[in-house]
Amino acid sequence: MLPYLNLGCGNKFHPDWVNVDFVSTGEGVIAHNLLSGIPMPDNKFEVVYHSHVLEHFQRDDAFKFIQECYRVLKPGGIIRIAIPDLEQIARNYLEQMELALKGDKAAESNYDWMVLEMYDQTVRDKEGGNMLKYLGSDISNEAFVYKRIGEEGKMFREMLLSQKNQPVHKPKKKFTRFFKPKYLKNKIKNFVLGADKSYAEIGKFRKGGEIHQWMYDRYSLGRLLKSAGFKNPEVKSAFESNIPNWNNFGLDLHDNKVRKPDSLFMEAYK
Ligand SMILES: C[S@@+](CC[C@H](N)C(=O)[O-])C[C@H]1O[C@@H](n2cnc3c(N)ncnc32)[C@H](O)[C@@H]1O
Repeated sequence: MLPYLNLGCGNKFHPDWVNVDFVSTGEGVIAHNLLSGIPMPDNKFEVVYHSHVLEHFQRDDAFKFIQECYRVLKPGGIIRIAIPDLEQIARNYLEQMELALKGDKAAESNYDWMVLEMYDQTVRDKEGGNMLKYLGSDISNEAFVYKRIGEEGKMFREMLLSQKNQPVHKPKKKFTRFFKPKYLKNKIKNFVLGADKSYAEIGKFRKGGEIHQWMYDRYSLGRLLKSAGFKNPEVKSAFESNIPNWNNFGLDLHDNKVRKPDSLFMEAYK
C-alpha cells in the first residue's frame, strides 16, 4: 500500500492508495464521515488527494478538514485538490450572457447551463436537482455541456436518455393505503404545514453530502491552503503534478482525457 490517501474517493479510487468515503464504495474503501476528522495518525502520508469533495463542506468545516489534511501529511508531503472552479464558471457565465444579449441563439442555452452550474448544486432540495432534468432532456447545446462536464457527464446523460426510452411499468396504486392512519396523519400534517415534503426530509437531503456548500477559485483555495500552513500553492493541469507517476493512477483522467474539465487542480506542500 502506498502512503497516499484519497479522501471522499467515491467510485474513483486506486487500489494501491488508502481510500476513504462516507460509505465503502469498493474493496478496502474505509467508511468514515470526514466531518469528524481524518481517522489517521499525524505525519503518515506522502500524498493527500481529494477531488470534488471540499465544496460539499461548510466553510468552517472546510478549514478544519484542510487542517486535518495538513496533520496527516509528512513534512514535505503534497496535497492535491480538484474542485469545481468558480473562476471558470464566472468567466463562462459572463461570456455567454454577453453573447445572449447580442442575440446569439446558441449562447442562450449555454447561459442557462452556466446558471445551473452556479446555483443548482447549492439550492436544490432533491437528488440531481434541475441539472438532472436538463441532462435528461433534449438539448441544443450538447457540445458545450460536454465540454463542461467531460466524459463522465456524457456517460451519465447517455444513461439518463436510455432510461427515458425504456417502457415504464407503473405499479397499480393500492386503494387501501388511503385508510391507513399514517397516511392520513401525514396528509393532515402536510396540509397544516402547507408543505408536500416535510422539512425534516429536505434537511436530511441538504445535510447528505450532495449539495455544494461553498465554491473556490485559484485565489481563495490558495489562501485557504496557506491559512492551514501549506506552502507554495500552485495551479496544475489534470495531467501535471509533483506527485511521482501521477498519470499512472488515472484519478483526474478518463481514457487519457480530463475526467472533470470544470475543475481547478491545485497542489501545495506541507
Ligand atoms: C462529487 S463526489 C466526488 C467523488 C470522487 N472523489 C470523484 O472525484 O469522482 C463527492 C464525494 O465526497 C463524499 N463525501 C462528501 N461528504 C463527505 C463526508 N463528510 N465524509 C466522507 N465522504 C464525504 C461523497 O460520499 C462523495 O463520494
